[in-house]
Amino acid sequence: MDTTPRPLPDLVAAAQRQAEDSGFVWSCIPEVGRLLTVAAAAKPAGVIAESGTGVGVGAAWLHAGLGTDARLVTVEQDPDRAARAAALFDGDPRVRILVGDWRLLEAHAPFDVFFCDGGGKREDPERVVDLLAPGGLLVLDDFTPPLSWPPRLNGELDELRMFYLGHPKLSATEVMTTPDSTAIIATRLAS
Ligand SMILES: C[S@@+](CC[C@H](N)C(=O)[O-])C[C@H]1O[C@@H](n2cnc3c(N)ncnc32)[C@H](O)[C@@H]1O
Repeated sequence: MDTTPRPLPDLVAAAQRQAEDSGFVWSCIPEVGRLLTVAAAAKPAGVIAESGTGVGVGAAWLHAGLGTDARLVTVEQDPDRAARAAALFDGDPRVRILVGDWRLLEAHAPFDVFFCDGGGKREDPERVVDLLAPGGLLVLDDFTPPLSWPPRLNGELDELRMFYLGHPKLSATEVMTTPDSTAIIATRLAS
């Protein structure tokens, strides 16, 4: 549940209906979505990217902050999901939905905002960092609040979280999105 009573942007509401209709349960939550809108709005002429479109909920949140001179490119490996998402943005020349592996995004880098949510985050985190423009913002959701430092996952050192939080090319922090979930927000350092 969104913790604020604010209404959803129209496209987000439409994307959420698609998710419900198609039984897709992995869309980002509104608390993350509002962060995505803020991040996109911070880069009014930027290249805004997403890996893992799903049926378009995260993309709709990014779109809510998309400047007139910005571009949104998102990739989804499942053609049916990609088609549902594409229908939402039909007619907006700023938006491209790619169908295939997340690495298709590379042709559109560097990114001013990258919501890495389906492909990349775990398989090739170093490449994820490399795809960011200087000053570019990276958003990663679906972490659980750390109970200790260094963070542990199932008793083991949470190396993925440590990678992003400690990467020398990033200034990164972790924010609570709900009492049970966190997101990492990082900026690619200029040098
Ligand atoms: C968590 S869901 C994405 C939700 C979406 N970002 C949102 O917030 O509404 C992850 C999606 O990534 C897609 N995916 C997983 N691995 C991928 C890959 N290697 N390349 C492209 N898409 C991938 C899955 O098919 C799934 O639809």
